[in-house]
Amino acid sequence: MNSVWNGATQRIHMQEVGTRDGLQAEAAFVETEAKIELVNALSEAGLAKIEVTAFVSPQAIPALRDAEIVMRKITRAPGVVYTALVPNVRGAERAIEAGTDELNLVMSSSETHNLANLRMTREQSFAALAQVATLAVAAGRSVNISLSCSFGCPMEGDVPQAAVLGWAQRFVEDLGASGVTLCDTTGMAYPGQVASLTQAFRARWPLSELTLHFHNTRGMGLANVLAAIDAGADRFDTSLGGIGGCPYAPGATGNVCSEEIVHALELMGFDTGVDLQQLIHAANRLPELIGRDIPSQIVKAGRRLDLHPLPSDFAAIRERALARAPDRNPSVNTDSAATSTRLR
Ligand code: COA
Ligand code: ZN
Repeated sequence: MNSVWNGATQRIHMQEVGTRDGLQAEAAFVETEAKIELVNALSEAGLAKIEVTAFVSPQAIPALRDAEIVMRKITRAPGVVYTALVPNVRGAERAIEAGTDELNLVMSSSETHNLANLRMTREQSFAALAQVATLAVAAGRSVNISLSCSFGCPMEGDVPQAAVLGWAQRFVEDLGASGVTLCDTTGMAYPGQVASLTQAFRARWPLSELTLHFHNTRGMGLANVLAAIDAGADRFDTSLGGIGGCPYAPGATGNVCSEEIVHALELMGFDTGVDLQQLIHAANRLPELIGRDIPSQIVKAGRRLDLHPLPSDFAAIRERALARAPDRNPSVNTDSAATSTRLR
C-alpha cells in the first residue's frame, strides 16, 4: 500500500459497539427483543466483532440491564467474535456464564474519569482487572482491555503518551491481554496524536491486537481513523448510526459511525468485509428504537451513488434551455439520471 488513500484491498477489521457504547446512554430503553434483532442483523452484515452488551451494574447503566438475556439469545454467526464490556469480577462471572467469547475489560487512563465512571481508583481497577483476566483465561475466554481517555480526559486534560503506554504495557505484559483498545472517549484525539500513539504501540507490541476507538465529538473521527491506518492500525470500534457515548464523561457524544466508516474505507479500496447495504438497513431502524434522530450522514444522504430523482419539471427545463441557445448547450446525460435509485 503506497498511501492511505489507496487501500489496495487491505482488510480493515470492523468492530461494532452500537449495542453497547451506542445504547448505554440512551434515555429510551430498547426492548430486549429489538436488541437481539439488531445484533443478529449486525452479524449478518459481516462485522468482525460485536460488542453485544455490558455486564456492569444495572444501577450504573440501566439501558443494558438485560445483558444476560441478550447475550444468550443472539444467533451466533461463524467467525464473528461476541464481546462484552466488563468492569469487575461480578461482571466477569456474569459474562462467562452467559457465554461471552471475549471479555472487554475497561478502565481509564485518567484517575478522575476512572473514579467518576467506575467508582474506583485506577490501581483498584487494575487489581480488579487482574482478577478478571485470571477468571477469563481459566474459562477459556480471550481478554481485551479498553483504556478510556487515552487521548485526553474531559476533566483533567491531556494524558501523557508515556502514561498511556505504561498502562498498555501492564495490560499486555503483566495481565497477558491479547488485545488493547485505545479509546478516545470524548473526541479529544487529533490525527498527529493518533499517528504517534499508534506507531509507538505497534513498535512495542507488534503481535498484540490493537483497536482504536474514536468518538466523533469534534468532527475528527474519520481523519483519526485514516491517521491510525496510515500508522499501522487495522482494527476499529464503530457504532451503528453514530450513536454512543459514556454517560460518566462530560460532553461525550457518538462514536464514529459504522456505515460512514465502511462507506469511506470501501471507496478508498479497503476491504471491510461488511455489506454496507445491510448495515444501512439496520441503521434505518435506530431512530424508531431510540426515539430520536441519529448522527449518521449516510442514513441522511445515502451512499455516494444513490442518485436522486430529477426535478419533476426537468423535461421542461431542458426544452427551454435547448430552445434558448441550441449550439451552446452541453449535452445532458439523462441516461444515468434515468437509472437513478431513490434514497431509502
Ligand atoms: N453487574 C451487576 N451488578 C453489579 C456489578 C456488575 N458487574 N458490579 C457491582 N454490582 C452491584 C453489586 O452487586 C451491588 O449491588 P447491591 O447494591 O444490590 O448489593 C451494587 O452493584 C454496588 O456494588 P459495588 O461493588 O459497590 O459497585 P459500585 O457502586 O462501586 O460501582 C461499578 C462500581 C464498576 C460496578 C459501576 O460503577 C459500574 O458498573 N460502572 C460501569 C459504568 C459504565 O459502564 N460506563 C460506560 C462504559 S465506559
Ligand atoms: Zn466509547
